[in-house]
Amino acid sequence: MRIDILTLFPDMFASFLEGSLLGAARAAGLLDIRVTNIRDFAEGIHRQVDDRPFGGGPGMLLMPGPVVACVEQVQGLGEQAGGGDRPPVGHLVMLTPGGRRLTQEVVESLARQERIVLLCGRYEGFDDRVRETLQPDEISIGDYVLSGGEVAAMVIVDAVARLVPGVLGDEESARQDSFSGAERLVEGPQYTRPREFRGLRVPDVLLSGDHGRIAQWRHEQAVDATRRRSPAQPQRSLQ
Ligand code: ADE
Repeated sequence: MRIDILTLFPDMFASFLEGSLLGAARAAGLLDIRVTNIRDFAEGIHRQVDDRPFGGGPGMLLMPGPVVACVEQVQGLGEQAGGGDRPPVGHLVMLTPGGRRLTQEVVESLARQERIVLLCGRYEGFDDRVRETLQPDEISIGDYVLSGGEVAAMVIVDAVARLVPGVLGDEESARQDSFSGAERLVEGPQYTRPREFRGLRVPDVLLSGDHGRIAQWRHEQAVDATRRRSPAQPQRSLQ
């Protein structure tokens, strides 16, 4: 699978991409991850990528020119990239707090793509013509505002990578993760040695060797954990 990351801060990704799981997956040729600096597509001696919003307001916006040129180059579109009228290569994702919420289902659909392109914003966001021109899949990792899309892109790369066959080594472990499978349950508690820690004992059923009972217990625990996490009543905001 190929993942392109388009950012104004490529250095943020260096140690992340070299880390154990991703580093090994890249070395094994399972993942081809490339980082492109949006500023390389800016014009003028100052290589300006942002400017003040028309109509006033705080902060700076990313200008459409460098961002669209960068995406078109990476997706093989436009005159400059020699793409002519060819369809865009790869599924374009724009990281933005206003996008659809990232869930394991969304992660699974991204992992089914051959190629994804992650576009990271900074400052107060993008000039809206970036969205109008490129019509990306807009994704948010949660209802809070980050200083840029880079951390959100890392979240997506991490979650998607572990679903790429061969990356985890043990495919079963991704299948048993929280939010996976038909019921999308949260995983229940798990235990390793010692059998007793500060008076807390590992549940007997896990030591029984009875795989049927163990599977049933785990499923019950997962149902419980899922219920506890998503109460029937919506949570009220504090007054
Ligand atoms: N950029 C800034 N905040 C973000 C969020 N919550 N999700 C994705 N991208 C973002």
